[in-house]
Amino acid sequence: MDKAWLFVNFLMVGVSLWTHNVKGLGVNWGTQANHRLSPSIVVQMLRDNGIRKVKLFDADESILSALSGSNIEVMVAIPNGDLASMLDENQARKWVERNVVRYNFRGGVNIKYVAVGNEPFLKSYNGTFEKATLPALRNVQNALNEVGVGGTVKATVPLNADVYESPKSNPVPSAGRFRPDIADLMTQMVQFMSQNNAPFTVNIYPFLSLYANPDFPFKYAFFGGGAAPLVDNGIQYTNVFDANFDTLVSALKAAGYGNMSIIVGEVGWPTDGDINANINNAFRFYQGLFPRIAANTGTPLRPGNIEMYLFGLLDEDAKSIEPGSFERHWGIFRYDGQPKFPLDPSGQNRDIYLVGAKNVKYLENEWCEFNSNARDLSNLGPSVDYACQFADCTPLGYGSSCHGLDAYGNASYAFNVYFQTQYQNLQSCDFGGLARLTTQNISTGNCNFTIQIASFALRAAAPVAFSFIAVFTSLFF
Ligand SMILES: *[C@@H]1O[C@H](CO)[C@@H](O)[C@H](O)[C@H]1NC(C)=O
Ligand SMILES: *[C@@H]1O[C@H](CO)[C@@H](O)[C@H](O)[C@H]1NC(C)=O
Ligand SMILES: *[C@@H]1O[C@H](CO)[C@@H](O)[C@H](O)[C@H]1NC(C)=O
Ligand SMILES: *[C@@H]1O[C@H](CO)[C@@H](O)[C@H](O)[C@H]1NC(C)=O
Ligand SMILES: *[C@@H]1O[C@H](CO)[C@@H](O)[C@H](O)[C@H]1NC(C)=O
Repeated sequence: MDKAWLFVNFLMVGVSLWTHNVKGLGVNWGTQANHRLSPSIVVQMLRDNGIRKVKLFDADESILSALSGSNIEVMVAIPNGDLASMLDENQARKWVERNVVRYNFRGGVNIKYVAVGNEPFLKSYNGTFEKATLPALRNVQNALNEVGVGGTVKATVPLNADVYESPKSNPVPSAGRFRPDIADLMTQMVQFMSQNNAPFTVNIYPFLSLYANPDFPFKYAFFGGGAAPLVDNGIQYTNVFDANFDTLVSALKAAGYGNMSIIVGEVGWPTDGDINANINNAFRFYQGLFPRIAANTGTPLRPGNIEMYLFGLLDEDAKSIEPGSFERHWGIFRYDGQPKFPLDPSGQNRDIYLVGAKNVKYLENEWCEFNSNARDLSNLGPSVDYACQFADCTPLGYGSSCHGLDAYGNASYAFNVYFQTQYQNLQSCDFGGLARLTTQNISTGNCNFTIQIASFALRAAAPVAFSFIAVFTSLFF
């Protein structure tokens, strides 16, 4: 068949089906990458794919400027580290003025939610953000209400699924309750959000269930069935996503808020950095997820549409790998905005790809490799460690795309990724003679020795006219 025709057909069918059937679907746009795509390229990519909702992790001006006029629904965010400053009502008010009201005009940004913190009650934070979160939430929502946008802009707290659980003695969804150490806090928070018609936001990760527990039944992480079902009051649970979500529904019900609306703030599958993080498993996960979203399947306790945000849009090679090496590989697109595997937003699982980022500028086709003529190898180990400290070597690990290279291959990988991260600065491909340049693509098999994208220069500030209109408009609230 004619390729151009196929492409046009894909655009039309793909976009219209995504827009009409997959209303609830959004994406998380994180920016912890060594080289970022320009926000306008990313926004164009969202538009090309008919993606109508994005969730951010801050309120970056360059991103919000790029989203202006797009009509894409946006969740802006206050990072955990800024929660304490929101304890001051004036600070909360200022934040809302600066990051919400300022964009609230025709042709501005369609902000729907403010995320107050990100998984602030994560067990591993040892309670660091426990005191600040609820007062911050109150101050932010109150400020939204006071400036007159609270009817359409809701404050919510994206939470990890570890805020609820069912008892070990009765591990079924219907026994779900909030975690005892924060149960009162959760109840107060839910009460406040309910009063303001704000949704509960939860991040659900079947991959992490599998990662955390070697005995976890593999098929139960996906949607294809085949695992022994968990039976709860006559309901058969065949995947952990449904069971997890319904555990939350039960916890909310037990707290007296059984009909509260729930958003899935993050859901997805990584493609590298662990034995179960690969393109095949991610493809399998999304092949199960997308038809459910398109058909508004919901879960046994909450059938119907569930608003969901995929995690994530792009790979982020500068994220902390404290949770695991997979952390840098959650994108449905690679670091450069190119799709990794087929994904059919209509839920029909046709063999089609999302539209990749356009006009991406790459650095030259130059790689850095281990210099096989080097005589003194005594610094090889420390040099590799140094490179990997400042660049992303996670593909070298066990179960990952470049595992199995020999020691020199490892060194080449590390030297190259460092060289690329340093914008191919010649001095960054030396390592005391251990490294050298090459114009040969030294990728092997599944192991990509990537060429980085050229830099995205941060715009100095929002254009004057834009700021002026925003300030001007904000006077009328
Ligand atoms: C939480 O406590 C554990 C164990 O005491 C410690 O290793 C970890 O660094 C702490 N994390 C934070 C964020 O304070
Ligand atoms: C929950 O129930 C209350 C009272 O019955 C109603 O006002 C509210 O709209 C309901 N919320 C949802 C999300 O259905
Ligand atoms: C290459 O690096 C990886 C990740 O550090 C390591 O697991 C592997 O053993 C290394 N291979 C050799 C041959 O040194
Ligand atoms: C290098 O080779 C790999 C594997 O053959 C390929 O996927 C990649 O696109 C190539 N890179 C460039 C910049 O041509
Ligand atoms: C390697 O990169 C090329 C494009 O440069 C891409 O087509 C291919 O899918 C990549 N392979 C992997 C395993 O990431």
